[in-house]
Amino acid sequence: MGTRFVGWGMAVPDKIVTNDDLSKTLDTSDEWISERTGIRQRHVGGTTTELGALAGKRAMEDAKVGPEDIDFVLLATTTAALIQAELGLTCPVLDVNAACAGFPYAVRVAQGLIETGTKRILLIGAETLSRWVDWTDRNVAVLLADGAGATVMEYSDTDNDILSFVLGASGVDADLLTCDHGSYFFMDGKEVFRRAVRVVVDSASEAIEKAGIEAKDISLMIPHQANIRIIQAASERLGIPMENAVITLDRYGNTSSASIPMAFWHARDEGRVKKGEYALMTGFGAGMTWASSVLKWSL
Ligand code: ACO
Repeated sequence: MGTRFVGWGMAVPDKIVTNDDLSKTLDTSDEWISERTGIRQRHVGGTTTELGALAGKRAMEDAKVGPEDIDFVLLATTTAALIQAELGLTCPVLDVNAACAGFPYAVRVAQGLIETGTKRILLIGAETLSRWVDWTDRNVAVLLADGAGATVMEYSDTDNDILSFVLGASGVDADLLTCDHGSYFFMDGKEVFRRAVRVVVDSASEAIEKAGIEAKDISLMIPHQANIRIIQAASERLGIPMENAVITLDRYGNTSSASIPMAFWHARDEGRVKKGEYALMTGFGAGMTWASSVLKWSL
């Protein structure tokens, strides 16, 4: 018995902002942004509720379930109740706030709910970070963007997709990446970069060990989509080839808690999620928070 993933969905706003668009108003260039981050464009606009509800609807369609089949809504951001209303659900709702590690954190909460009697959960990661970006600050404006990703998770008598979890947080480092009320994001990019590689590698190694497998057994790595160089450094240190990593940041930038479920959606769409194979999901973000989990697909 255990918890399994039965559907995925994603949504981004229509408006695309390319690196060249940003270069018109900022002292930056497509060359700098794509070389240093891997990002080529991002989607900007919409509201967290709109994007989250659309991704949630698509995940429910993918799982072939209706509003009456969902017993709980978990949202990795701050507007779960609005999404519940938008989708015509009446079940309980809860926001999980763990920034870019929000999706894996919320999967852990969903697993706990499912193993203690909740049958089926709609879990959404949705963000409109563009509203807290100072578009004149090139340190942040080139990185963050808007989007949503969702999954339906349910109780299974026979299968269990979640083999291990390692969660962590270090509030003393909160100043490295913050956003005061009514203000914009501030980030010490270099330090976040260094720590991100460290916490991803350490937590992922521990999650792999806890799952009783080795890095070479991981056929799919779904990392938080912050910077291609962070993913490359982690992949090298973990011994998981880059071909096994799912990369979507070139198209979407960093969408925080939405980035991992959006990457899952793409991996599934490209036929890379295969029954019986092992996947590593790993994220880090403001807080600082981090989370790694080893999954094994039953569907
Ligand atoms: N365009 C052009 N030049 C720039 C830009 C820009 N957008 N930003 C900085 N530069 C310049 C700098 O001024 C510096 O110039 P100098 O050499 O004359 O001093 C040079 O480029 C190098 O700057 P660095 O800061 O050393 O660049 P670095 O290679 O460290 O890349 C970056 C910066 C992309 C921010 C990187 O540190 C990074 O990705 N850090 C992690 C960020 C991250 O993951 N944040 C999200 C966390 S998740 C969440 O919770 C939202």
